Amino acid sequence: MDKFRIIGGTPLSGSVAVSGAKNSALPCLAAALLTPDTVTLHNVPYVRDLITMRRLLEDLGCTVLVPALRTHQINAGTVDACEAPYELVKTMRASVLVLGPLVARFGEARVSLPGGCAIGQRPIDLHLKALEQMGAQIELQNGVVHARADRLQGADIEFEMVTVGGTENLLMAATLAKGRTRLINAACEPEISDLADLLNKMGANIEGAGTSIITIEGVNALGGTSHTIIPDRIETGTLIVAAAITCGELEITHCNANHLTAVIEKLRAVGVEIEQVNESTLHVKGKSHLRAADVATEVYPGFPTDMQAQYLTLMTQAEGEAVIDETIFENRFMHVSELQRLGANLRVHGHQCRSHGPTPLTGAKLIASDLRASASLVLAGLAAQGETWIDRVYHIDRGYEKIEEKLRSVGANIERIKG
Ligand code: UD1
Repeated sequence: MDKFRIIGGTPLSGSVAVSGAKNSALPCLAAALLTPDTVTLHNVPYVRDLITMRRLLEDLGCTVLVPALRTHQINAGTVDACEAPYELVKTMRASVLVLGPLVARFGEARVSLPGGCAIGQRPIDLHLKALEQMGAQIELQNGVVHARADRLQGADIEFEMVTVGGTENLLMAATLAKGRTRLINAACEPEISDLADLLNKMGANIEGAGTSIITIEGVNALGGTSHTIIPDRIETGTLIVAAAITCGELEITHCNANHLTAVIEKLRAVGVEIEQVNESTLHVKGKSHLRAADVATEVYPGFPTDMQAQYLTLMTQAEGEAVIDETIFENRFMHVSELQRLGANLRVHGHQCRSHGPTPLTGAKLIASDLRASASLVLAGLAAQGETWIDRVYHIDRGYEKIEEKLRSVGANIERIKG
């Protein structure tokens, strides 16, 4: 297993480009199942989860060509299977995103239940309940969900809680349903709007994406198109924190600041200088004196749970007490015990973590536990004095494109040790 070796204490400086959004590219690849024509996607990040999704589509019988780095051409004209096997679903929960498109186009899908994951239970009951409301018959046998429907019927679906994946699955399913579907209490994340843009280019009739009520008029068939994936807002936020925590100065390009308003507001409030240079570029300057401030994770447009670990790490370097309230996932503080090993003063009570800072961090051996937690350990390593080793960096490879190369290009002392 690969490891990172980081020698901290160097302020980052220079220009770094953000990749395409993993969480947008995943549903967009799944959406290609909705048509026999070719869908071309640009700006697909070169990360492990996208390789897994490509493998899943190929398993189902799709042809996936990569004519240029970060461009995927998917043709689902030859799909001959309808099953997402456990081997793939267990490594990547987002495999369940093929459920909606398969039932909608082929009338049948078998998807292994994802089960629990490191950051919590994460069931898919809301996806299944909503598909049932659209007329699908759902059976669960031997850990596999079997969904069937002659043709899905439009329905008014009110989600009990906001679910990003559930909204995406149902949005895709409803495009080929008979009649009108309304998704109420839908997720508003930019990745939902990006998926809806792609689907509309394929011939779908969707209005209201990006708000909590999405209306979809079902059509008989969708066609091919090409589409460019939006920038990754979580990678952008992670790079802002990298500049801040090293007291460095970074120009972050190929990003969309409008997608991370809550993050930028919070980071400015604690003392990070962030300026918008143009539509796709931010200039960030870290300050040696930061003020601690509380945060609670929320659904979009609130502060994202995927930035909680990085923000918490920054708070270890801020003056005073900060209460970090995780409201989306029940077990998302696994980075805390690792940060404590570097010297951070953190205490977890239920879904809250209190940080008292600033505390000097000193290098240690750490183990990455999940995607965003591992990003926070890299940030901590950049700020720590001495040498930090991070084991199991395959977690970070799931969602960050060549993070060590990007950080090295702006002065970080980080290397990958192949294992
Ligand atoms: C997506 C993102 C993930 C992000 C999360 C929240 C992708 C590939 N992943 O995950 O990075 O952290 O949104 O912003 O886009 N829930 C249920 N029943 C369901 C569905 C969800 O109880 O049927 C619960 C989950 O356990 C969780 C909460 O709802 O506590 C939010 O989950 P959801 O928005 O569905 O997250 P994902 O789509 O899995």
